[in-house]
Amino acid sequence: MTLKRIETGIPGLDELLGGGFPRGRSVLLTGGAGTGKSIFGIQFLYNGITQFEENGILVTLEESAEIIRENMKIFGWNLKKLEEENRLVIIDAAPIRYKSFLDGKDKYKLAIKPHPILGEREFGIQDITSLIHEYRRKIDAKRLVFDSLTTLLLQHSDLFAIRQDILTLVKTLKISDMSSILIAESPTENEIGRFGVEPFLAEGVIILYMLRRGNTRIRALDIQKMRGTAHSMDSTLFRITNEGIIVYPGEKVFRDDQ
Ligand SMILES: Nc1ncnc2c1ncn2[C@@H]1O[C@H](COP(=O)(O)OP(=O)(O)OP(=O)(O)O)[C@@H](O)[C@H]1O
Ligand SMILES: [Mg+2]
Repeated sequence: MTLKRIETGIPGLDELLGGGFPRGRSVLLTGGAGTGKSIFGIQFLYNGITQFEENGILVTLEESAEIIRENMKIFGWNLKKLEEENRLVIIDAAPIRYKSFLDGKDKYKLAIKPHPILGEREFGIQDITSLIHEYRRKIDAKRLVFDSLTTLLLQHSDLFAIRQDILTLVKTLKISDMSSILIAESPTENEIGRFGVEPFLAEGVIILYMLRRGNTRIRALDIQKMRGTAHSMDSTLFRITNEGIIVYPGEKVFRDDQ
């Protein structure tokens, strides 16, 4: 049985993946701050809708929906229009980070801003997964991006709760039959995710990073794993342009003797 694929439509990337992501699975997209994770995710959704007639859901716990709509205009992506056409849904769960002085302790807490449907309360994984199910049915979504796992998991202090949340999310996505990108922040080049468990729960892992080249920095990506398929093992150069991300297969990041 051959693996069914889902094309990302990101120029150059599907070639590296042997045709695209495995369909119906979750891929972890990780990297440091500003490496292009959110743009990558939104481009995957935008291409799905505009090139492959596959509707999409963006769950954002990072930037608000308003800021995302505004920021994506530079790439010519009119998200508002796709939302109005019921081809895209943005679940805006962007939390407000505030400093709490409870018990005289100076600690950071994650609070969730009032949600139009859910009102003002804690916004947990169960709330998010039920919204995902609801919107998937409503717009027949085939793709989903979750930005980011890190923000969701920062609410927890123990590894058990973290694993539970990831498993709940992965299970939801599996039964929903959507192809998903889960975004996770990586604090350093050598770590994948922050909690050590993220890569084991996804079917594939893509790492975005930046490298110093003389006086400037270049962007590169590695496909660290993609279950069930052969894929490129090369570190590959990419750029963020006014048309979004462009990947350059064959453009080596390191010399062979490095
Ligand atoms: N039009 C553009 N042309 C070139 N580069 C751009 C353009 N727009 C944004 N960028 C680059 O993309 C970066 C932001 O990408 P993105 O928001 O996807 O990163 P991220 O990995 O999600 O970051 P974070 O960890 O902060 O969420 C900017 O820092 C900038 O370098
Ligand atoms: Mg981001």
